[in-house]
Amino acid sequence: MHPCGIDFGTSNSAIALGDPAGARLLKVEGDSDTLPSAIFYAAHTPLPAFGRAAQKLFFEGEEGRFMRSLKRILGTSLMNQGTVVNGRMRSFDEIIGNFIGHIKSTAEKQLNHELTHAVMGRPVHFIDGDKDGDARAESELQRIAAAAGFKHIAFQFEPVAAAFAHEIKVTDEKRALVADIGGGTSDFTVIKVSQKYINRADRSQDILGHSGVRIGGNDFDKSLSLSSFMPAFGYRSTYGEKRFDVPLSPFHDMSEWSKVNFLYTPKVKKDMRDILSESHAAKRFGRFVNALEHELGHRILSSVEAAKIDLTDQESTTAALGFIENGFTLDVQREVFNTAITSHVDRISESITECLATAGLSDDDIEIIILTGGPTETPLLKQAVCSRFPNAALSEENKLSSVALGLGYDSQRKFGN
Ligand SMILES: Nc1ncnc2c1ncn2[C@@H]1O[C@H](COP(=O)(O)OP(=O)(O)OP(=O)(O)O)[C@@H](O)[C@H]1O
Ligand SMILES: [Mg+2]
Repeated sequence: MHPCGIDFGTSNSAIALGDPAGARLLKVEGDSDTLPSAIFYAAHTPLPAFGRAAQKLFFEGEEGRFMRSLKRILGTSLMNQGTVVNGRMRSFDEIIGNFIGHIKSTAEKQLNHELTHAVMGRPVHFIDGDKDGDARAESELQRIAAAAGFKHIAFQFEPVAAAFAHEIKVTDEKRALVADIGGGTSDFTVIKVSQKYINRADRSQDILGHSGVRIGGNDFDKSLSLSSFMPAFGYRSTYGEKRFDVPLSPFHDMSEWSKVNFLYTPKVKKDMRDILSESHAAKRFGRFVNALEHELGHRILSSVEAAKIDLTDQESTTAALGFIENGFTLDVQREVFNTAITSHVDRISESITECLATAGLSDDDIEIIILTGGPTETPLLKQAVCSRFPNAALSEENKLSSVALGLGYDSQRKFGN
């Protein structure tokens, strides 16, 4: 039997094979061991495209429906509603199932055998402060994985999995804080790590505490969109004789990966056109209406995300938005971005405090910080996390794949013989 670990991430996914000798990542798209969690249903092709191939088709202007951040739908009421894709109603079970089934079959083709046993990663909380919603999200993911053909499915917290991937380099036992900050959630665990424990069947004694909050890179995108992009699209402008404020929620949805598609309804488009006819900022608000009419929300968000990533190494950047209007560019400053995400970073820090409290430890007790997940590159966030633990060593390799690798180790522990 060949057990595997699957990290179905909000932004990126990966799969690793468990093996008595360790664990190894499998290729999921060409030579890459990560797959963007994106799916594209072309209007006139029966089978969907996934990952970079999906992004490419969408950005080349192929007609069809593009989706990202599907993990954020788990546990929410949208799971029961489904969505119309190219004129046909599809459930999110089917859509997420297509994605997970694609990962499974891509791995199986390489291995030449079926995969039946999987450890799936899960955030500490899919949804904050809602135990029922959280349990629902896990059982939905279980149901989807079973429908995709996995016969034995277990779950592991994503930050615990990251610890399993990193501890291979740790010779003596150390108390580690794992900060796994992803596209959708920030998850923490305090755990005793050591390469000597890799084959320990039961690790529950080693896990000292955990916490999590539904904030991640998607929320940073939203903050940057609202602070630096949407004002140029008429956000917070006024209309009509009585100088009403334009409604805020369409701008919020336009800034949120998992909600953009739901804006493209005839009603929203008509309401916005009506407002445009009385707008006091017709040029700016006209861009918003244009983006709605031509369904450009994902393209704007991709520009926002690219600008955010530029600001990891640069103080400022220029976003090119020629697809909205000839020659349209926006200057984006790291200082403005930092201010926009401050409340998120504070909330993430509080979650670390909660994690240490559940473990009964203080900052000084932490000997290693394991950083994983794309947003841990963000300077303000990295500084906020690392400055708390001046005595701790830092372990931060393979930020987009360490969770899957650790799930691979865990699959061997849970299902290997
Ligand atoms: N260099 C960078 N600087 C800042 N953010 C980055 C960088 N690289 C990637 N990101 C962000 O990291 C996020 C994706 O990270 P990751 O792949 O770890 O998430 P995920 O595992 O898919 O999500 P989750 O674990 O929450 O389900 C995206 O929001 C992306 O914009
Ligand atoms: Mg992740």
